[in-house]
Amino acid sequence: MTEPDLIDYAAVERLRAEPLDWRYKGLPPDAASVADLVGRRLPTGGFTAPVASLDGPALAGNLDRYAAFCAERGLSFAPHLKTTMAPALAAQQARRGAWAFTVATMAQARVLRAFGARRILIAHGVVDPVAVDWVVAEQEHAEVYCWVDSPAAVAVLAGRAGATGRPVPVFVELGLPGGRTGARGVPAAAEVARAVEAAPGLRLAGVAGYEGSYGHDRSSAALAAVREHLAELVRLAEAVDAAAVTAGGSGYPDLVAEAFDGLGGARRAILRSGAYVAHDHGHYAHISPFPLEPALRVWATVVSTPETGLAFLNMGKRDVSYDLDLPLPLTVLRDGMPRPVEQLTVTELNDQHAYLSDPAGEVQVGDWVCCGISHPCTMFEQWQALPVLDREHTVIDVVRTFF
Ligand SMILES: Cc1ncc(COP(=O)(O)O)c(C=O)c1O
Repeated sequence: MTEPDLIDYAAVERLRAEPLDWRYKGLPPDAASVADLVGRRLPTGGFTAPVASLDGPALAGNLDRYAAFCAERGLSFAPHLKTTMAPALAAQQARRGAWAFTVATMAQARVLRAFGARRILIAHGVVDPVAVDWVVAEQEHAEVYCWVDSPAAVAVLAGRAGATGRPVPVFVELGLPGGRTGARGVPAAAEVARAVEAAPGLRLAGVAGYEGSYGHDRSSAALAAVREHLAELVRLAEAVDAAAVTAGGSGYPDLVAEAFDGLGGARRAILRSGAYVAHDHGHYAHISPFPLEPALRVWATVVSTPETGLAFLNMGKRDVSYDLDLPLPLTVLRDGMPRPVEQLTVTELNDQHAYLSDPAGEVQVGDWVCCGISHPCTMFEQWQALPVLDREHTVIDVVRTFF
């Protein structure tokens, strides 16, 4: 039997018909619709600085790469949508075989439900009463899962789920000392699983971990810590005879697949990577095991060169991610012609300015500077509409986000 679609493709498509106006920074003031933008060159086709863009072929390649990897390794894919919160990208993930979507909050789950998503993992505890009631009620229309890591969290959910209606499916989250959320160790997590099984209104769907909390690079110490967490997760799955086990960001999908290869029984193995879609020029470029392509760029103009060797771009913390690394200048565009970057570096960001160190005098007022970023997860929320470009920087589509 074929499964119904994971998302309502027609609802996603309807976004393209919505008007574009002053709500969307960076877009040309004379463009009122997606159709008005398609075919324009960025940045010179009427765009205003700063403007963020997506590289269409890079996106497609990254989406294909993960879909193929999951298919090869027998993984169910539940891409984390918190990265992009873009229904159009979720639809592309669904078309490539995603099994579910992951989100971090009930509000994000609501966005996906507005686009008809029918299987959603909230990879977080849900304990505030209104959110719990929403999750309980939504079971009538969709599979909405959430995480629990303590008997207290189980009690909160069970207290509102009641014994009637469809049970709320939950994953017991495992953590290790020094990590983030998650019951510390197999015995504590197994106790939470027993509490779930004893709670009327709840159903034990599986066990969950997140190895990204235990490593931030590919050093042997980081790989060992990640492997240890994943091995512990597999032990927990076996100890509680979990029907499903899930882990996985975009840093160590190879290690997740390796650990889940050893799963006994007919357990569903679920990968939850999110950042891979856009990848980056910083953190994920260093840590990903795959040759993905960075798809996000921000374009800004040089508005001031007040001292020798110092220039300012009209982009700042409101436009680019800065939690892991500062943006990376990639190209200068002068009079529409690209020039390679030699020694330009962004050294500091204010809310609306980037400090550009320019020891070789590479830029002048009026130049555009195209930058790559590090950490897509803190970038998409700054842009509610992102033009998607082909390799010639011609707009082929627009992606909307909902944070
Ligand atoms: C619980 C959880 N799962 C999955 C992910 C996805 O990881 P990534 O952003 O590296 O793709 C994250 C990211 O923070 C996460 O917190």
